[in-house]
Amino acid sequence: METDKAAVSREEVRKLEEDFKMIRLDNICKTYEVGGDIVKALDHVSIHIKEGEFVSIIGPSGSGKSTLMNMIGCLDVADEGSYYLDGIAIEEYSEDNLAMVRNAKIGFVFQNFNLLNRLSAQENVELPLLYKKMTKKERERLVMEALNQVKLTERKGHKPMELSGGQQQRVAIARALVTNPAMILADEPTGNLDSGTGEKIMSLFHELHAKGNTIVLITHDEKVADQAERKIRILDGRVQEIISRQDIKDGKENQ
Ligand SMILES: Nc1ncnc2c1ncn2[C@@H]1O[C@H](COP(=O)(O)OP(=O)(O)OP(=O)(O)O)[C@@H](O)[C@H]1O
Ligand SMILES: [Mg+2]
Repeated sequence: METDKAAVSREEVRKLEEDFKMIRLDNICKTYEVGGDIVKALDHVSIHIKEGEFVSIIGPSGSGKSTLMNMIGCLDVADEGSYYLDGIAIEEYSEDNLAMVRNAKIGFVFQNFNLLNRLSAQENVELPLLYKKMTKKERERLVMEALNQVKLTERKGHKPMELSGGQQQRVAIARALVTNPAMILADEPTGNLDSGTGEKIMSLFHELHAKGNTIVLITHDEKVADQAERKIRILDGRVQEIISRQDIKDGKENQ
């Protein structure tokens, strides 16, 4: 019997490898100019994030973390460099396609929450579902499930101004979770929480990671960053070092 042993071409292997890397940034630069001052927010940043990975991005204030998150989440465009999402260069996506991929794939937790003040917690969490074909009942079920995950069901009728900073943060997290996105991109998600609540949120991220979600967590807290599989340290818009979990455990950092 003749078997079809068509060789897999190098190009195909390269493509498969590329696909495996959900996110790939090559030499990304982003510069801001304010009143004649030039700030290199991202300076030749090259990183990749694989599907199902749990990565933390750590750096001091102003190091470029949020700028990097906006870049990863395709909310901003680089001045220089290439960005591949699921193996495809970002400029090959049409605007509509990119919006669709982003809505379906990524759950954002913004540093400043980005909650709508006139809406209740429940309505804020419901927002990303309004674009989906779904009955009101189904939406309500998912919203309550997400609010329950962040332990906030009893505050569902409250508007952001009627919630504490930590509670607003949890609403923002619930809003990111409600669509069950493949990747959660969270900017300082524990920044406004007391240590107990912060730990609960971290357990939630670990649970989501165990279920196969990709987690990208931005923080300035070393203890939080150490919980990831890989820790990417940035300073002055540059990647300083990338440390794997094993190296974190072995204390090989900064050696
Ligand atoms: N829209 C903007 N216009 C001008 N400069 C900006 C803009 N956004 C960010 N920057 C500058 O780029 C640099 C990186 O900012 P970024 O918000 O990414 O830092 P960060 O690491 O998230 O800091 P933090 O921990 O305080 O949130 C900073 O020096 C900041 O002042
Ligand atoms: Mg920031």
